Amino acid sequence: MLGRLNHVAIAVPDLAAASAVYRDTLGARVTMPQALPEHGVTVVFIDLGNTKVELLEPLGENSPIAAFLEKSPSGGMHHVCYEVDDILAARDRLKAGGARVLGDGNPKIGAHGKPVLFLHPKDFAGTLVELEQA
Ligand code: CO
Repeated sequence: MLGRLNHVAIAVPDLAAASAVYRDTLGARVTMPQALPEHGVTVVFIDLGNTKVELLEPLGENSPIAAFLEKSPSGGMHHVCYEVDDILAARDRLKAGGARVLGDGNPKIGAHGKPVLFLHPKDFAGTLVELEQA
């Protein structure tokens, strides 16, 4: 069921500052910021060839990463995103096994224009897991 690692996401309090660290200090190519109001974040991507890093900054009043940044004000690893071939089949299999799917359980369209779901960290070794239909 589980495919490639699509990205690792890092929540940051200041997207411009974090982008500058990746671009200037680490010498990475960083995309332009993309606002995703439906997800409550603004993102940039750093393409590493074999996978990507996604930097997330809160957007709007009820950002899902606001509480995370209250606990970790300087930022930190927020989630990992794995690719699946069929997101609805993956969801149904995980739910049948007792895993909790966040939100209303239906995929939303993610930053790459593809359906995504998030799984409860308590069911996955303490890590928030995003699934993206490849
Ligand atoms: Co993500």
